[in-house]
Amino acid sequence: MAMLRAVLLLVTLNVSFVYALSVTSTQSWNITTDPQGSVRLNGLAFQQQPLLTFGDYQYVAYYTTAKGYGSHYVHLGRRRVNPSVSAWEDFAFTDYEQKTLDEHNTISMGIGGDGKIHLSFDHHDVPLNYRVSTSGIAKTIPTQWTQAAFGGSVVHALPGSTGPWTPLTYPRFETLANGDMLMEFRIGQSGAGDSYIHRYSSSSGSWSAVGKYLQGQDNNAYINGITSQDGKLHVSWTVRETPDASTNHDFYYALSEDDGKTWKNAAGQAVSKPILPTTNGIKVYTIPQKSEIINQEAQCVDLNGRFHALMRDKSSGTAKFYHYMRTPSGTFSKTAINVAVSTPPYLAYRGKIASIGDNLIAIIPDQPKSTITIWGATAAGNFTDWKNLATIPNMNCEPGVDYQRLATSAASGSPILSLFTRQGGDFGDRKVQVWDFAMQL
Ligand SMILES: *[C@@H]1O[C@H](CO)[C@@H](O)[C@H](O)[C@H]1NC(C)=O
Ligand SMILES: *[C@@H]1O[C@H](CO)[C@@H](O)[C@H](O)[C@H]1NC(C)=O
Repeated sequence: MAMLRAVLLLVTLNVSFVYALSVTSTQSWNITTDPQGSVRLNGLAFQQQPLLTFGDYQYVAYYTTAKGYGSHYVHLGRRRVNPSVSAWEDFAFTDYEQKTLDEHNTISMGIGGDGKIHLSFDHHDVPLNYRVSTSGIAKTIPTQWTQAAFGGSVVHALPGSTGPWTPLTYPRFETLANGDMLMEFRIGQSGAGDSYIHRYSSSSGSWSAVGKYLQGQDNNAYINGITSQDGKLHVSWTVRETPDASTNHDFYYALSEDDGKTWKNAAGQAVSKPILPTTNGIKVYTIPQKSEIINQEAQCVDLNGRFHALMRDKSSGTAKFYHYMRTPSGTFSKTAINVAVSTPPYLAYRGKIASIGDNLIAIIPDQPKSTITIWGATAAGNFTDWKNLATIPNMNCEPGVDYQRLATSAASGSPILSLFTRQGGDFGDRKVQVWDFAMQL
């Protein structure tokens, strides 16, 4: 009897431990027809971000065909998502024709606390391309949704700040808690580049240089992202020696507690700026060249201040996705994510990682199966209890996550994982999409 009670108790404990994290409903929208050609301009891992929510509206930035093959316009879409989801509205920026068929030349979008929408796009080692709405259109919602909200043309410097502005690639935006916003990008080339941060003041509407924070040593850092939470700015990266991706090596991490002005290593010790690959305590895991560690995969920070990264490598002999974690006290771990997906081929599509409550979500493209798979894991299960939550068919992209919508919807008790995706298939059939997964915790 005592034994039976013990067994029952265990069962009860087990039941309360089993997480409820699940997808309760799924919906998708075709945003546009993806451009013609074998090159992807929509749906690349380093877009920070193509899809984001501010207030009650969600915004999406993408390319679609302007005037035939090799000619594209930047489009900006919006829809209301609170209290209910309305239809998408969209306009094209017809004063800038994008012509370079190159997968680097994606669009990134940021929205500061003043509600101005910032866009940066079409770079691969070229001068900055940047434009911003003339007023806070994400805060004072205009009834008309047209290019007129952006006034002037594309500019090649951040107004108020100092360069260099070329040769530039991989612009990223990250909004801070006080409404200011950081912009981060690489200056230089693959295998020989530095990373810079500028800061947008939401009160003055002007930019200033925070400076060069990562410096190559005949190599360059490829960051997984730049993530601000609770006054801490987290960056992780791998370093590449030449334009050949097989020269990627090692996993690096740094933390700033003053929005990028000064930096600390993984153990929390101050380091000098710019950070070099040889800076003390910056390299966390040694992963040799030719290990297929893939640059610019994904990272996030959870509500308890834990830093998480998703990166894959073949250091074990088989290519695997890994979950890297840093606790707020500075302890790092690297654990293989054992999920039922195909072994990722070299240079296969990159995934994303996101946090929701005390859970993690890994969004992993299964490229050989042309799917995107979504997995959940819990803190109670040490983030090793990965469970399949959903699978999207006919995918040919690296998904984008609306991190803002996930955070605010989870805080209000009705979490929505909203993804930016691109389908597989022929030109004409292949759509750029947004997928919403309503979740329960
Ligand atoms: C989580 O890790 C701790 C410490 O290593 C261990 O004691 C515990 O059993 C683990 N729990 C699960 C569910 O793996
Ligand atoms: C989106 O487009 C695809 C392919 O063109 C089509 O099969 C699907 O029904 C469309 N979905 C929606 C929600 O309209």
